[in-house]
Amino acid sequence: MGRVVFVQADGSKREVEAVDGQSVMQVARANLVPGIVAECGGELSCATCHVYVDEQWVGFLPARSADEVDMLEVAAEEPTECSRLSCQVQFEAVLDGMVVTIPNTQ
Ligand code: FES
Repeated sequence: MGRVVFVQADGSKREVEAVDGQSVMQVARANLVPGIVAECGGELSCATCHVYVDEQWVGFLPARSADEVDMLEVAAEEPTECSRLSCQVQFEAVLDGMVVTIPNTQ
């Protein structure tokens, strides 16, 4: 268990509870955090679950798969080095307090 802080494009923040093994997309949806559409339900085929992970947390995440990198290329908002598809990031204790920003558009 731990917490994830979601930041909206307008700067508003919401801290919610996360369970180990849940994807960050599932954490957002379980807590009705707006802005993560997740059209494909986590099948890595929509890129509507794009988030920007705060720089301080990026190093704690496993590397992006080639498929995730490909899908990020078609994200509605320009990806950066901190971009992840939130359905591909599994929450674990080391990520407690992780801050992710949701883009303006998905
Ligand atoms: S929910 Fe579709 S790629 Fe993440």
